[in-house]
Amino acid sequence: MSAIDATAFHDFERDGWERAAEHYAGAFGDVTGQIAAPLLDAVRAGHGTRLLDVATGPGVVAAAAAKRGATVTGIDFSPAMIAAARTRHPGITFRDGDAEALPFDDASFDAVVMNFGLLHLARPETAIAEAYRVLRPGGRYAFTVWAPPDQAVGFGMALKAIEAFGRTDVSLPEGPPFFRFSAVDESQQTLNRAGFVDADARVVALTWSLDSADGVFDALSRGGVRTAAVLRAQTPEALDAIRTSVRRSVERYEDGNRFVLPMPAVLASARKPEPGTA
Ligand SMILES: C[S@@+](CC[C@H](N)C(=O)[O-])C[C@H]1O[C@@H](n2cnc3c(N)ncnc32)[C@H](O)[C@@H]1O
Repeated sequence: MSAIDATAFHDFERDGWERAAEHYAGAFGDVTGQIAAPLLDAVRAGHGTRLLDVATGPGVVAAAAAKRGATVTGIDFSPAMIAAARTRHPGITFRDGDAEALPFDDASFDAVVMNFGLLHLARPETAIAEAYRVLRPGGRYAFTVWAPPDQAVGFGMALKAIEAFGRTDVSLPEGPPFFRFSAVDESQQTLNRAGFVDADARVVALTWSLDSADGVFDALSRGGVRTAAVLRAQTPEALDAIRTSVRRSVERYEDGNRFVLPMPAVLASARKPEPGTA
């Protein structure tokens, strides 16, 4: 039996994204947007593709798909994120909706994508099943998650600093492991179990370019949810020590007048089989 209270975790995440929405695009938009092209290539998004961007946030991927001529809908369960997406991209359809209960008919899209959303879900398998349901047979699904923290170093340095200088036993609604789908085998097998075919998962190199050595700490403490909540629960002294430690780690990546960190991601994709072809 799972120890996870999925409803509590789901609501904790939604509250967290409402709080983070105004900071998220500034904190992570540049790095998460770098994978839009490979993600859209993985689902063959092009002119006329009916594409659903699940957990769209401020709509970076939705906008890249619209630029290719796709007919795009972006959904997110955070009204603040949807408001931000509408302001940034007024020509695109954005609506409130839950990845775990998509408000669309079966087989209504040619492509479904989710950029850095799956790792935030209380019930990732349910979201993958929902993507499968709303895809037409032959349609394609792709998602991204961060690579493990020893590779996506911005996360690694923050987690190490919290362990060294703070407390990790913070009482939060427990969710699925943040890095579960960072294992390419796990991503591929989960897609296969959901009924997809041609499942593929690979690591894509991204870089996080920051103008301040405090950029990682600031991004994680304001533009995210789980790590932000852990940071909020620290004493002021511990928080200072964590901030200093993360800053020193970032300084090792100085490159000219910026700090450039490797932040690879896993890109997983698959196809919904046509009847009789699986
Ligand atoms: C890390 S952000 C990714 C945003 C965007 N896809 C990007 O690439 O920048 C995660 C997003 O997932 C959304 N989200 C989390 N759980 C969700 C759910 N159950 N249903 C819909 N959206 C969800 C959050 O509101 C947030 O906008």
